[in-house]
Amino acid sequence: MILAVYNPKGGCGKTTTAVNLATELARRGRSVLLVDLEADMGSSISVGVGPSDTGASIFELLLNQRRPSDAVRPVAKIPNLHLVAGSPALAGIGAALRNVRQPERRLADCIRPLASSMDVVVLDSPSNFTVLSLSVPALAQHLVVPIRADYLSLESLAHFLRWYRDRGAGRDRMAHLSGILLTMVDYQREATREIVDIIRVHNRRGVFRTEIPDDPRVSEAPSHGIPLMLYSRSRAALAYERLAGELLQRIERRGRVSRAR
Ligand SMILES: Nc1ncnc2c1ncn2[C@@H]1O[C@H](COP(=O)(O)OP(=O)(O)O)[C@@H](O)[C@H]1O
Ligand SMILES: [Mg+2]
Repeated sequence: MILAVYNPKGGCGKTTTAVNLATELARRGRSVLLVDLEADMGSSISVGVGPSDTGASIFELLLNQRRPSDAVRPVAKIPNLHLVAGSPALAGIGAALRNVRQPERRLADCIRPLASSMDVVVLDSPSNFTVLSLSVPALAQHLVVPIRADYLSLESLAHFLRWYRDRGAGRDRMAHLSGILLTMVDYQREATREIVDIIRVHNRRGVFRTEIPDDPRVSEAPSHGIPLMLYSRSRAALAYERLAGELLQRIERRGRVSRAR
């Protein structure tokens, strides 16, 4: 199964969600591959692999310079979790794939062979509409869409959902939208509560019941090179545990519905 944490808007909690979902799924006994698609290597750093690491990264796979299995490494301290690291070189991936035919297919060519030996692949998507981020919904089966509960995020969610529907209505096969995930929710602020209500009313069952609260521990964990849930049993860590359960239930329910059709 290939899952992607996806939203073209930056800073909405994609990397945090990808790392902690992948960790929790591994802790539940699934063999999990976390794939970092970002030049700033946020999810790699969060599991202890930094920019000075010299191993093969997703960049070499996209350029066909290494075999996909060469870039898979086990994550220390977390049994069942594996990583394909990001790379600063991804900043130039658009130019590097300039002469490749159908560059948006390269990601699928690298990841599909790896997916067959894993229970779950979790893609940490880059922000914006780049060749790499556009490759994600065509490869993944399920999308988790994190969003901050603030006004501009609300506007950008509406734009994203319209764009996603239009694209899906075309000939592209697109991942199923498993759910919108409210992140960094600050329950002290009335404006936040109002935005959460608007998002829930407009999207109904499309929004995960679980919300990720604003939690200072989240930004501390990466500096220790371990995911939040190993660093602290804080509010957000507990919420990510619940999210993994809710997501698996949603995916299972969808599987039953599509089999019954
Ligand atoms: N629940 C949370 N509480 C507090 N800070 C958070 C939370 N989730 C994410 N952050 C912080 O917000 C910033 C953006 O999150 P990140 O996961 O990197 O988003 P994205 O990958 O979408 O750009 C990071 O500094 C991260 O530590
Ligand atoms: Mg990120």
